[in-house]
Amino acid sequence: MPIDPAHRLPDDLEIMLSQRALASRVRRLAGEITHDVAALDPILIGVLKGSLIFMADLTRRLNFPLSIDFLSVSSYQGTTSTGVVRILKDLDQPIGGRHVVLIEDIVDSGQTLCYLAEYLWAQNPASLRICTLLDKISARTVAVDIEYVGHQFTRGYVVGYGMDYHQRYRNLPHLAVLEEPDP
Ligand code: IMP
Ligand code: MG
Repeated sequence: MPIDPAHRLPDDLEIMLSQRALASRVRRLAGEITHDVAALDPILIGVLKGSLIFMADLTRRLNFPLSIDFLSVSSYQGTTSTGVVRILKDLDQPIGGRHVVLIEDIVDSGQTLCYLAEYLWAQNPASLRICTLLDKISARTVAVDIEYVGHQFTRGYVVGYGMDYHQRYRNLPHLAVLEEPDP
C-alpha cells in the first residue's frame, strides 16, 4: 500500500534547499528589494499561510521604513491547483497610492498570482512588485511578471519553510521535496 505523503517522516524527504541555502537566497532578495523600494515607504503583503516564515526572515533583513499586511487565499486541494482562487482574509489597510511588494512562497501554475495581481491593481497602488521564494517554471499556465525570484525548479511538490502538504510540514526549517505527489 502506498504511504500517504502526509505521513512521511521529515528525515526521509530529499532536501531541496538547506537552511544555509535559504538564508543566502533571502539575503540576496532582501538586497534587491532594498535597492528598489527602500526610499518608497512600501507595504509588503504576505500571502498566508505559505509565506509566513519567508516573510518573517525577509522583513528582518529590510532595514528601512515599511508596513506589513497579509492576505489569505485558497486555491489548492492536496497537490493540485483547483484554478479557483478565493480570498479568505483581506488586507487590513488601504493600498491606494502605496508601493506594494507582494510576497509569495511559490508560483506554480501562476493562477493565484494572476488573480492577486489583478485584485491589487484594482485598488490603485502606485506600483506593484512581486517576490516569490520559489518559481516552479515548468508548471506555468498563466504568464506573470515576477521581479524577485529566490530559486527556480521544475519538478516535485515542495514542503517546509512555511509550505505544506495537507497542513503538514510547514515547520521544517529547510525545503524538502515530497516525491509522491497526488496524481
Ligand atoms: P498556483 O496558483 O498554481 O501558482 O499555486 C500557487 C500556490 O499554491 C502557492 O502560493 C502555494 O501556496 C501553493 N503551492 C503550489 N505548489 C506548491 C508546492 O509544491 N508546495 C506547496 N505549496 C504549493
Ligand atoms: Mg502561496
